[in-house]
Amino acid sequence: MVVAAVLASGLLLAGPALRRRYPVAWWLLCGFPVVAFRVVHTWRPLMAGCGLAVSRRPALTVVSGLVGKGAPPPQPRVPRRGLIRPTAGGFVLLVRLLPGQVPEHFVKAAPAMAENWQVHAVRVTSWKPGIVRIVASAADPLTDPRIPKQRGPGHLLRVTVGALETGAAWVVDLRRIPHWLIVGATRSGKSTLINALVAGLAPQAVALVGIDCKGGMELSLYEPRLSALATNREQAVRLLAALVDLTLDRMTLCRVARVRNIWGLADKERPVPVVVIVDEIAELFLVASRSEKDEAHAAGTALIRLAQLGAALGVFLVVAGQRVGSDLGPGVTALRAQLGGRVCHRVADPGTAEMALGDLNPDALKAAQAIAPEQAGTAVLASGDGWERARSHLITEAEAEAVAAEYAHLTPVLSELHVEAL
Ligand SMILES: Nc1ncnc2c1ncn2[C@@H]1O[C@H](COP(=O)(O)OP(=O)(O)OP(=O)(O)O)[C@@H](O)[C@H]1O
Ligand SMILES: [Mg+2]
Repeated sequence: MVVAAVLASGLLLAGPALRRRYPVAWWLLCGFPVVAFRVVHTWRPLMAGCGLAVSRRPALTVVSGLVGKGAPPPQPRVPRRGLIRPTAGGFVLLVRLLPGQVPEHFVKAAPAMAENWQVHAVRVTSWKPGIVRIVASAADPLTDPRIPKQRGPGHLLRVTVGALETGAAWVVDLRRIPHWLIVGATRSGKSTLINALVAGLAPQAVALVGIDCKGGMELSLYEPRLSALATNREQAVRLLAALVDLTLDRMTLCRVARVRNIWGLADKERPVPVVVIVDEIAELFLVASRSEKDEAHAAGTALIRLAQLGAALGVFLVVAGQRVGSDLGPGVTALRAQLGGRVCHRVADPGTAEMALGDLNPDALKAAQAIAPEQAGTAVLASGDGWERARSHLITEAEAEAVAAEYAHLTPVLSELHVEAL
């Protein structure tokens, strides 16, 4: 008794420190057993409360009433639950659907499950026909992501930029999804994500091109590693036109070699991949005067062409902006449609989240709107396969500058893009 009391009080006192130091061990030894007990204990009432229990046939109830002489009728059937398996920061559970149920019924019940089990979040996905997979995370894994930053070049055009909610690495792979749209309110983490992307691409054999019409405040940090940088709209329009020409030249090259994309060319003939980064798209599109309107139109058309042709020809777009609504001009909607990868940080208005994430999934929109200002860098990612929460690595300006300087010698010279001289 005394030993147990001493142990318990010791654990209570040292608990918070141990928990911070060994979060996984703490969860497995102390948190998980409690939560698993809660899940087992509340399973039946929870299923019933969420409308996921199916009552037995009325006839059976009547018969049991007669036979049991007033005994309570049989309880409704609840979906069968598999083993509750712990993960590093939560648990996983498979559940067999009852006749007449679809996974969406369980998706709707996910918030109630999270409340009942007192965990941070519950996600439900369809595992195979008739079975759903319930994944719970005890605490928000994105408060303190533990995925190490990428060191070294890694695979061409593939960069680890942060951590996913599942604990896996958040990898941006431009060869798989060539063009990206990054939205978010001011100070939500757009430029930090671009920093992480640039820091990962800098050691690779790629050309980086910057368009930063906020006077170059954000992207000029990496100037030594950029093959070209436009810091106002006039330069941007010329740079984009030069990029379109470069893309068309590559198209001719591929046609002559009878290949469908630059990856089909022999190694020594293959032109270097070009990643075009646009920080604050609104600066390109918002216009005050007539002449600016023509410039904005030209910029928009060039970006759309790059997006349409670029993927096969090794030209990739990463476009960031606070808003991407049609009020910026007619070209924006068409451009948005071409940017397949979507990252939505904290947003100021639901419309922006909707535009970034599409109307794919109302849950994704809710998750994006729930991002708090102190969680800068947290974002919702959407692609054809669904959505996920993630957080970028915090790469400070000093780090970004240091990376750019370190790899400045790798900067490819693309003389056709030197627009300042035009
Ligand atoms: N992943 C992150 N982890 C921790 N802090 C972050 C993260 N991303 C951003 N922050 C914090 O948020 C601040 C603002 O981020 P950032 O400059 O990237 O915002 P932004 O969206 O580019 O804003 P703006 O639209 O004003 O340019 C950063 O200085 C940093 O302190
Ligand atoms: Mg910024």
